Amino acid sequence: NAVHVLNGPNLNLLGRREPGIYGTTTLADIETMLAGAARAAGVTLAFRQSNHEGELVSWIHEAGLSGAGVLINAGAYTHTSIALRDAIAGSGAAAVEVHLSNVYARESFRHTSLIAPVCIGVICGLGATGYRLGFDALVAHLGRGTP
Ligand code: DQA
Repeated sequence: NAVHVLNGPNLNLLGRREPGIYGTTTLADIETMLAGAARAAGVTLAFRQSNHEGELVSWIHEAGLSGAGVLINAGAYTHTSIALRDAIAGSGAAAVEVHLSNVYARESFRHTSLIAPVCIGVICGLGATGYRLGFDALVAHLGRGTP
């Protein structure tokens, strides 16, 4: 089994980006944490970040068509991207949406997710821990043999 962790725009700045909201943990820290979890679970991990919507679309296709689970923090594209939603639906990817911050405690434009309806579930507000919880949920889901 494989899990592809896909990070969207501005998440490369994690650690110095609005630390009051996102904390000081970097994306590299999160990757290190998940690499350990993947090793322990015997799962192959791909960990990627892009600021480009189309690249994220292609990565979702790659994961979904290969049967890998997708843990996705789509950043601001969460709230705007029909293309990412269609990529998840169209490739049949088993996906979990994750956000570091509690988007429901923030501006109203962050309260709508266009991708949540095609995801298995959504985790938000738990910081880097949410990535770990989402990863574990995907591993359990893939282990059940469901797509
Ligand atoms: C985010 C929340 C989004 O609203 C925002 O645009 C981000 C990060 C989060 O992880 O909390 O870029 O996805």
